[in-house]
Amino acid sequence: MCWSPWSGTRSSRSSGATISPAPGWPARLESQGVVVRSLRRSDAEDWQAVRARNQDWLAPWDATVPPGGAPRPASYGLVTRALLRQAKRGHTLPFVIEVDGRFAGQVTVSNVARGSAQWGSIGYWVDAAVAGRGIAPRAVALVIDHCLGPVGLHRVEICVRPENTNSLRVVEKLGLEQVGYAPRFLHINGDWRDHRIFAVTREEVPYGIEQRLSTHQSHQ
Ligand SMILES: CC(C)(COP(=O)(O)OP(=O)(O)OC[C@H]1O[C@@H](n2cnc3c(N)ncnc32)[C@H](O)[C@@H]1OP(=O)(O)O)[C@@H](O)C(=O)NCCC(=O)NCCS
Repeated sequence: MCWSPWSGTRSSRSSGATISPAPGWPARLESQGVVVRSLRRSDAEDWQAVRARNQDWLAPWDATVPPGGAPRPASYGLVTRALLRQAKRGHTLPFVIEVDGRFAGQVTVSNVARGSAQWGSIGYWVDAAVAGRGIAPRAVALVIDHCLGPVGLHRVEICVRPENTNSLRVVEKLGLEQVGYAPRFLHINGDWRDHRIFAVTREEVPYGIEQRLSTHQSHQ
């Protein structure tokens, strides 16, 4: 791991006079062969290739536009430009997962709320070619520790469809608590879908969540 959970540098100046709108961004995190780094516009080709060969694997869990919703930007370039603009403002943290130096998936922190909330929502996917190697749990653990550390959030949540047994294993491995159940919560794969809501707050993981994951693995 590249930093101890709560000792990461913050983007605010030491005088306290100026606070970056995007603390903890950009970032590169790494542990046990899994690299998580900020999305780049130059990822276009890799992203398109991986998404194209994973269409069937991802479609049941992909967010879709509800009836009457604004259409999505039409190209990778437009989506990425919008995401990176949001990232600069601290609203979103779009990360890429790399394994063996290759684009292997994404972890995205979205809906970052500041003020009295200080929370964000995490979504993720991996290339089916690398599934089953514990890559998503490792990448998500790195991102949670980054969010609760340098980014300065107090709480992160992960919302999972009850049918998504693979993703439920990810939150189980991370030891996240289910804090709620939201009927017809998100528009996924063409309809409003129920989600189980899992969350963790900073106080629950004083030594970081990645350490908890490593402990979990050593007991397998
Ligand atoms: C959910 C997901 C990110 C998990 O990533 P991962 O890196 O494979 O995570 P893990 O290695 O911990 O595997 C989780 C479970 O997936 C299942 N799995 C393992 N290998 C698999 C494979 N080759 N194909 C399908 N499922 C597999 C196993 O049940 C595994 O649990 P186990 O380790 O107890 O056996 C991945 O399955 C994925 O990208 N799914 C499609 C998108 C998605 O569902 N995103 C999450 C939305 S909430």
